[in-house]
Amino acid sequence: MRIAVLKETASGESRVAASPETVKKFIALGATVAVQPGAGDGASIADADFAAAGAEISRDAVKGADIVLGVQGPDPKALNGANAGAWIVAGLDPFGQRSRVDDYAKGGFEALAMEFMPRITRAQSMDILSSQSNLSGYKAVIEAAGQYGRAFPMMMTAAGTVTAAKCFVMGVGVAGLQAIATARRLGAQVSATDVRSATKEQIQSLGAKPIFVESVKGIEGEGAGGYASEMSEEYQKAQAELVSSHIAKQDIVITTALIPGKAAPRLITDAQIATMKPGSVIFDLAVAQGGNVEGSKPDEVVISHGVKIIGYSNTATHLAADASALFARNLYNFLSAFWDKEAGRPVLDEEIGDAVRLTRDGKVVNGRLLGA
Ligand code: NAI
Repeated sequence: MRIAVLKETASGESRVAASPETVKKFIALGATVAVQPGAGDGASIADADFAAAGAEISRDAVKGADIVLGVQGPDPKALNGANAGAWIVAGLDPFGQRSRVDDYAKGGFEALAMEFMPRITRAQSMDILSSQSNLSGYKAVIEAAGQYGRAFPMMMTAAGTVTAAKCFVMGVGVAGLQAIATARRLGAQVSATDVRSATKEQIQSLGAKPIFVESVKGIEGEGAGGYASEMSEEYQKAQAELVSSHIAKQDIVITTALIPGKAAPRLITDAQIATMKPGSVIFDLAVAQGGNVEGSKPDEVVISHGVKIIGYSNTATHLAADASALFARNLYNFLSAFWDKEAGRPVLDEEIGDAVRLTRDGKVVNGRLLGA
């Protein structure tokens, strides 16, 4: 059983899908691990560290590999030489990179999309979306604070009082919860909203104020797997009105709203931005999925009505060392949970295997991609 670890080639990607810790653990399971040279550079892991953990450092890491680990989906050409039926284990962006998925099928690979991990208790430690979103929520607040020309906490000084920043978090999933916690730690006054009513208590437990649409009855906002569902027009109108009155008073807004497989919902319009105070900052964590904020552009600081709108195409890569360590553990937790000692390799069960498997035996087999 040979496991190959790729050097990521996507522009701006600094993470790596293994760490010296996970290399050691894979070897303890009986696998050999080969790492492409420089794979860990962006995450401050030297080739020597991987070698000290027992990995072979080789340009030909993929040759003879049974499992290929990546952060993002590799170019199918980079898989030349891997064994027939080799597993590709990575964040494969199945909806965005559909033709690449077809190529994995044609190449005879078994592509396993880690972002399709089901949201069940036993899979929590395997969930790359959670581990990366958590760090992204933190980074969004830190970057917004960096762009903000004022302080976050209230300060009473001899020269006078500095007032606390007002921070509003829209979308309270994994990233939003971490954004609330981070903004609170920095001393901001924090409020938050979501379409899932279950988040109200979570917001309160973090010491923030929930801002919720109460006038539209019969909505829970929760679709399959704990994710948000698309909301009715009536709800969207009520939400827009509520947000309009609240947003005008905010200094910092962090938006995190996503709906799997769909463009991100638009939460803030240009007209609403115009009501905010100049110098306010909006961080759009959904900018790469179409954006929650009108006018936001990936990796640019857009100034609109005196408000700075920022957002990264890949937020987790800006914390590459921690993001890689957690990503690597997610992959190890996944593969080791299914390790079959006799077979000397992982054997997936139906619940998780069917959820993450995109291709097998030359065909695309995943229900979500086939529209089942
Ligand atoms: P996500 O990244 O898909 O979306 C972020 C947030 O935006 C969600 O809370 C969603 O409800 C919200 N949202 C969507 N449309 C919105 C709108 N129009 N206005 C305001 N907010 C909107 O969600 P994420 O962070 O991946 O987590 C979703 C849920 O899954 C959470 O309950 C989380 O605790 C749960 N979860 C469970 C796991 C497990 O059991 N293995 C692992 C990770 C998350």
